[in-house]
Amino acid sequence: MRYALLVSPSSNRVYAQSAPALAAAELLAVGERVLDGAITHVTQTTLGSVDYVTFEAPDLSELSRGWLSNLAATFALYRLDDDGRLSPVDLTRWDQLDSDLITIQKYSGKTNEAFTKLLLNVTLAASAFAAERRPLSVLDPLCGRGTTLNQALSYGFHATGVEVDKKDFEAYALFIQRWVKDHRLKHTAVQGSVKGLPKLEVELGVTKERFKSGDTLRLTYVSADTHAISQVFQPRTFDLIVTDAPYGVLHGAHSGPQTARKPGELLQTAIPVWRAALRPGGAMGIAWNRLVLRREDLARVLAENGLEVCDFSQSFEHRVDSSIARDLIVARLA
Ligand SMILES: C[S@@+](CC[C@H](N)C(=O)[O-])C[C@H]1O[C@@H](n2cnc3c(N)ncnc32)[C@H](O)[C@@H]1O
Repeated sequence: MRYALLVSPSSNRVYAQSAPALAAAELLAVGERVLDGAITHVTQTTLGSVDYVTFEAPDLSELSRGWLSNLAATFALYRLDDDGRLSPVDLTRWDQLDSDLITIQKYSGKTNEAFTKLLLNVTLAASAFAAERRPLSVLDPLCGRGTTLNQALSYGFHATGVEVDKKDFEAYALFIQRWVKDHRLKHTAVQGSVKGLPKLEVELGVTKERFKSGDTLRLTYVSADTHAISQVFQPRTFDLIVTDAPYGVLHGAHSGPQTARKPGELLQTAIPVWRAALRPGGAMGIAWNRLVLRREDLARVLAENGLEVCDFSQSFEHRVDSSIARDLIVARLA
């Protein structure tokens, strides 16, 4: 069968230019890691002057329909027949919470929402848990104001974040407690501390019934240096680690008292700590700025820490601006 995936429009002009290529890369990565290579002939195409990614695949199983429905790029999906007619395919979205959870916050340094979803998807696809529909536990060890946390919660996953900038912690704590109240979600929220570090814990129910039955989503945010993760969390706690590392332009990388512009230093010392917190079969997905750290150097640090770097047939590298060439790398823990 031939299919055409209508690429989600992006309000960010620069990201919109990379979106079709990123869509093709995401589709191929999922095809390779989750769908046994069932996705073939992936092509960026313009139909009726609109961006699509077309591909071939056998009849859609529940697993493939689920994954195709939730790619960061998927706005709509169609069967494409020989004379070019498009027949819509029903999507099965994994989102359990209102999408404004991800879009409401506007602040400088926010990681692009679609790219954050793509990074979570590709990391999940590389893990041993890609076909499981259970509330996985996701850690963002450099979480800023929580874009990854919001995407993970939206998927029905438990979300944990660590961030050194106290302003980000305070801003997110205010935002999320306001958001659950405005959406009248049953929840508890406790702002306390752990090992003397400020901590926020929110437990929410997607529905009243699920909250009552204890089927809740847990959000934890600790205001701390990422190296403190080993003191705060048990080893092998998280299924997925998903993070957007400082680009060395807007956000400084704190790897000691002074602010170091190059994130390489931070990742060198942080990855062993993150690896210890990762569950076997889990995966770690890191986005970073290739203009400040070479891919081979990052891959070496991951391999030195016992992680198997995943190869994808298409690169995810794309320009964010003149000083940021963003890429992602995913590594799995056997
Ligand atoms: C690219 S930003 C992440 C933005 C986030 N994804 C968002 O959308 O809000 C990287 C973050 O890493 C934080 N950071 C840098 N060094 C850190 C460290 N040693 N421990 C914890 N956080 C750190 C920075 O303060 C910054 O918020």
